[in-house]
Amino acid sequence: MDLKRFIRDIPDFPQKGIVFRDITPLLRNQEAFKEAIDGMCELVSDREFDLVVAPEARGFILGAAMAYKLGKGFVPVRKPGKLPYKTVHEEYQLEYGTEQLHIHEDAIEKGQKVIIVDDVLATGGTAEALIRLVKKLGGEVVSLAFLVELSYLEPRKRLEGYDVKTLIVY
Ligand code: PRP
Ligand code: ADE
Repeated sequence: MDLKRFIRDIPDFPQKGIVFRDITPLLRNQEAFKEAIDGMCELVSDREFDLVVAPEARGFILGAAMAYKLGKGFVPVRKPGKLPYKTVHEEYQLEYGTEQLHIHEDAIEKGQKVIIVDDVLATGGTAEALIRLVKKLGGEVVSLAFLVELSYLEPRKRLEGYDVKTLIVY
């Protein structure tokens, strides 16, 4: 199935000059959603790990489905003021602004292996911040899996040395 058919380009969202890759048409199609989750699980099938780590909001949708299918635990990474227990955080730049991401300080045990999952790999800033958070807690990132890669923003330059897997490339 050509999954790109289910991704809609929205020019000038959330600000002028950005082409937003909207995955909601893919999510609402049962065959496309299933193929996307199965395909992303296949991308990491050669890896051994304990946990799926994913950021809100769109990362949760894919990360939680993958964790369920693969029989792994799920660790949410959230924007400020959302997680109830003690957190550690990192700042990062987005294609459209600066943000902070938080993780519970006890979410990953020292030495645990994790994969990072998100919907879109754009500049790679979010992925870098997620890697820093996992490292801060003593975890090891064994792979990063994304539904969509915006290769023209050259995100892989920022993720050298990591196993970066993507299903759909622009
Ligand atoms: C989007 C997307 C990725 C990130 C990718 O999240 O879901 O997490 O941007 O961009 P980058 O590679 O340039 O860092 P956003 O912060 O817009 O949050 P959302 O999922 O809540 O919409
Ligand atoms: N996250 C960062 N950049 C994005 C884009 N262009 N489309 C969808 N999600 C994004």
